[in-house]
Amino acid sequence: MTAPEPAVDVGSRRSALLELTDVEYVIGGLQVLHPMTLRFRAGEVTALSGPSGSGKTTLLSIAGGLLRATSGSATYDGTLTWQGDGDPRPEFAFVLQVYGLVPILSARENVSIALRARGVSPSEADERADAELDRFHIGDLGDRQVEELSGGQMQRVACARAFAVRAAVLLADEPTSELDEGNREHVMAQLHAEAARGAVVVVATHDPAVVDAADRHCLLDEGRLVDHVEPVVVGRHRPV
Ligand SMILES: Nc1ncnc2c1ncn2[C@@H]1O[C@H](COP(=O)(O)OP(=O)(O)O)[C@@H](O)[C@H]1O
Ligand SMILES: [Mg+2]
Repeated sequence: MTAPEPAVDVGSRRSALLELTDVEYVIGGLQVLHPMTLRFRAGEVTALSGPSGSGKTTLLSIAGGLLRATSGSATYDGTLTWQGDGDPRPEFAFVLQVYGLVPILSARENVSIALRARGVSPSEADERADAELDRFHIGDLGDRQVEELSGGQMQRVACARAFAVRAAVLLADEPTSELDEGNREHVMAQLHAEAARGAVVVVATHDPAVVDAADRHCLLDEGRLVDHVEPVVVGRHRPV
């Protein structure tokens, strides 16, 4: 038996790299990121850790094409991630630190609109939205307006929305900050499942348990990369 074709698979490529080359970010005279070069490979979960204010969100934003680097470049599969307007390429999905959900829509609608925006029919999008909410153990909250949910529930809706689209690159900014240990472990397992599907997965965190559960680790401090393991050499990825 063969697995059903996903309705949305924006072309994750196991050979594709997310590459930051001499990326630097300066704003209002503040050197938020010092020049750094990093590569993230498909099939791996990379933890990007560092204290609050160390530049994790800025780095993920540049990697994902939401923010333009002051100098240097971010590319995925050889093409710039910055498209000139802060809109990400369709291969990218984000779990934003501030969730980025529409408060007056239901949990189901928040996930479903991400799928519809990628061309999935409304009925299939709703079905898949329910399945993704289930995946994060909030299947019973589909009809609830997001503004009525707790922080941890909103965080799981944000995960469901990002995971639903089966992106080639999944960038998750502190996706477990409001979760208990069981849910945190579950989200990490799902991040690994996305990597196993062939996605590039980067998770910003200051939680040592998340770092431990990742395949590799990049540590930021005051906008500098202070420690990292070169992904091309180390990792659990196996060619298929
Ligand atoms: N648009 C901005 N204007 C001014 N300062 C900013 C801006 N974006 C980020 N910073 C500053 O850059 C530093 C890194 O921020 P951020 O990337 O959010 O760090 P982290 O996600 O690790 O907490 C912080 O000192 C923050 O205040
Ligand atoms: Mg942050």
